[in-house]
Amino acid sequence: MRRPFVAGNWKMNLTRDESTALASEIVSAVGSGGNCDVAVCPPNVYLHAVAEATKGSSVGVGAQNVYHEVSGAFTGETSTEMIKDVGATYVILGHSERRNILGESNEDVNKKLHAVLAAGLTPIVCVGELLEEREAGRTIDVIKEQFTGSFANISAEQLGKCVIAYEPVWAIGTGKVATPEQAEEVHANLRSIMTEAFDASTAESVRIQYGGSVKPDNAAELLGQPNIDGALVGGAALKADSFVAIIKAAG
Ligand code: 13P
Repeated sequence: MRRPFVAGNWKMNLTRDESTALASEIVSAVGSGGNCDVAVCPPNVYLHAVAEATKGSSVGVGAQNVYHEVSGAFTGETSTEMIKDVGATYVILGHSERRNILGESNEDVNKKLHAVLAAGLTPIVCVGELLEEREAGRTIDVIKEQFTGSFANISAEQLGKCVIAYEPVWAIGTGKVATPEQAEEVHANLRSIMTEAFDASTAESVRIQYGGSVKPDNAAELLGQPNIDGALVGGAALKADSFVAIIKAAG
């Protein structure tokens, strides 16, 4: 049985005060935790403040990106140890905005994934097709390619420690949510891809979140699908009431 997991990706939003206030509101609403794991992913500069605000609660904290090297002359980058040092336990990898705006490749994601697992952090690895790829009937091929490249040289045991997020790029921030059937189809395919590349029991254990215009009014139906194990929420994670409503729909 996979425990649902809802994470908020705050992207490049909020001030420090807004971040800690939102985190505190989520902590109060979630309490000691229900049937759902919860995490918030603020910008790196607010990780420490948000980790302090959520300390001792069931709300986890994650970074939105990391660099694969341990330390050194990499101006502007942040290492896994730094992220751990300020209290985060999750890292989002390969978000479509990093892939499509900042030019991250599957190879980059793979290097980061190895670094994150070596550091004992939990990765949330994102995959998802562009609208033109869906329209060309290439969705599953694209997902398979992204999965295979991002998880190169990863063991089944390591895969078991990962979370995957399926985020169709055309549904991100557009209000155009994938139908539960469209999302479920990709999630089920991802599970088959994992079974083929690894084994069935590991594939069954990995949580796959859906992301892309998840809102309180569509969360229950999406999360009710057999292979959808949670959500990676953007816009609706910036307000405590909508984020908490999504958590309640999951758990
Ligand atoms: P929205 O929920 O704003 O569509 O963003 C989804 C997302 O990209 C989460 O990582």
